[in-house]
Amino acid sequence: ITVNVDRTGARISPMLYGIFYEEIEHAGDGGLYAEMLENRSFEEFRNGFGYDIRLNQGILPRLDDPNNIPAWELRGDGTMALDQSQPLNGGNPTALKISLSGGAATLVNAGFAPARHAPEQRLGAGLSVRKSASYKISLYGRGGDGFMGPISVTLVSHDGKTLARGEVANIGPAWAKSEVTLTATGSDPTARLDLGFTGKGTVWLDMVSLFPADTFLGRPNGLRKDMAQMIADLKPSFVRFPGGCFVEGLYQVKEAWRPLRTLGDVAQRPGIPGARWQYGSTDGFGYHEMLQMCEDIHAEPLLVLNCGMTHGDSAGIRFDDGPFPPLLKEALDSIEYANGPADSEWGKARAANGHPEPFHLKYIEIGNEDGEMADYAPRYKIFQEKIHAKYPDIHLIVGSTRNPEGVPKDSPVEIVDEHYYETAGRFIDRFHKYDAYDRKAPKVYIGEFAVTDDKAFSTDKGFNNLRAALGEAVYMLGFERNSDVVAMASYAPLFCRIDQKMWPSNLIYFDQQKAFGTPSYYVWKTLSENRGDINLAVDATSPPATMDTTREHPEDNDKPFPQSLYVGATREETSGDVLLKVVNILNSPQDTSIALPGAAKIAKQAEAVTVARPDVAAANDLTSPVAVAPAATKIANAGKDFHYTFPANSVTIIRLHTQ
Ligand code: AHR
Repeated sequence: ITVNVDRTGARISPMLYGIFYEEIEHAGDGGLYAEMLENRSFEEFRNGFGYDIRLNQGILPRLDDPNNIPAWELRGDGTMALDQSQPLNGGNPTALKISLSGGAATLVNAGFAPARHAPEQRLGAGLSVRKSASYKISLYGRGGDGFMGPISVTLVSHDGKTLARGEVANIGPAWAKSEVTLTATGSDPTARLDLGFTGKGTVWLDMVSLFPADTFLGRPNGLRKDMAQMIADLKPSFVRFPGGCFVEGLYQVKEAWRPLRTLGDVAQRPGIPGARWQYGSTDGFGYHEMLQMCEDIHAEPLLVLNCGMTHGDSAGIRFDDGPFPPLLKEALDSIEYANGPADSEWGKARAANGHPEPFHLKYIEIGNEDGEMADYAPRYKIFQEKIHAKYPDIHLIVGSTRNPEGVPKDSPVEIVDEHYYETAGRFIDRFHKYDAYDRKAPKVYIGEFAVTDDKAFSTDKGFNNLRAALGEAVYMLGFERNSDVVAMASYAPLFCRIDQKMWPSNLIYFDQQKAFGTPSYYVWKTLSENRGDINLAVDATSPPATMDTTREHPEDNDKPFPQSLYVGATREETSGDVLLKVVNILNSPQDTSIALPGAAKIAKQAEAVTVARPDVAAANDLTSPVAVAPAATKIANAGKDFHYTFPANSVTIIRLHTQ
């Protein structure tokens, strides 16, 4: 490997490495959003048993069927039913009505369910309760027929031990909110919440919520600490939210995410009953919370807006939406919410929600994977003209298209999104893809990419493995070298609750208690932490390599890759350090001579960070969360000419000091 330190290439875009957040596989509800109870507002019955196409035609399941109440169970002397006769408010029309027959009754919730709800599997996988941690329980209650409380509130371990106990004393005849904070005396990742009632009468409940008191940075209505920290650790330059197809809705815009409907009091947020990924969204983790998260992890927000197209448009299915919703006005208002002064209409709303200072939103994508459809260009034009008329500095991104014909021709276009879910082999074959891109064409945002073929999941648990990460790493070095063209990139999807897997590969998996990164996560983290500012020209030769994967061109499937080491190098301007980045796709170590002929000085002491395993099928899981993870080593014999052995199946970054 020769690194030509005096031949510089493209500058690294400061926005290059970001993250893609979508409400898919319970990334938010039941995941990053710290609410521990599923179906807290009793609105989930509308898609409790999986997405039902009848919902699009306004046919709702029966309210009086107790099997329509996902995540809740009533034990003892009473019955429960959904009830819309006493709505808490307009955004939250359904409450739980419990009729008590005189003895003792217990209402149980055990968190998010392990699979799509079935009547016999109504309760969740358990609540992760930790000793000495505090939990905030709140509920809206209303009594009738003589019931005035109290309601006991107990966190109970799987084997029936009381972990914490409190009481909601008074339940009056009108809706009122009660809150109690409990501190657990023991731990159990599979605990449950019991609400206990005695006596006769009727009680209505709504917005029954359980939050850990300790959220990420202590934010109210905040995020699960471990998961938020994992994404902060990636040091992302931006966060794209909230999708993905979630932005589009399934067959109707009314199933799509609309930022302004996710603001303010969580008890009033209507949520989305039939959202794209077969479960409803509470929108508790809403637009404001997403902007706040970006600020908290020092990442630029990238808001994706619906432009009136749904996922069904690409599938050729579209239900009549009725009058076209005011999406353009909502788009402008959403920008004002993020950026307007505190005395503007929406800036005032932001200030009322606790953030008088603007969030400085600079990036917006118009539509998700809509760029290839004929209807797209005219919509992009309308959004582009109106947004830029009011906010000329906003960077607009064209919804994903792989087809250059899909890029709008008669509007200014700055950045175009591209999405790729491919085999490791195809990504390796695309190491040079962006070398050939037209430098005068719009810049590229690789908004979603991941290795998703069956060879990427060779562990019995089905989590993506090191082979997938190696394919992605080669592609990443290829686009990093071309960062004058590729301005931004993000892996997708970001989070998957392990019992809710719908998409082949994911960056981070979690259950109610723990989260772990895949090899892709650690490769991403290593590259993001070691970006450098400008590319350096590299010459590299290495033996050919075979890999069990399919190739970009089927005629190459039986041929080896022409090289086994894929190399990039950058310089960090503040330190002067050279960052040598090498992916070894060979199943054996490679002793390699490295030269930096143009360098005035390279220190003998250097540092390397490596993600590697002898077995390319190695993966992480809940019990071995860092089996494949970065390892740091010191190098004592670096210099202008030195040898280094790159381990089998590895991604290595060597930091060389020039002073
Ligand atoms: O990342 C999962 C899905 O893949 C996204 O929602 C969509 O944009 C793409 O098709």
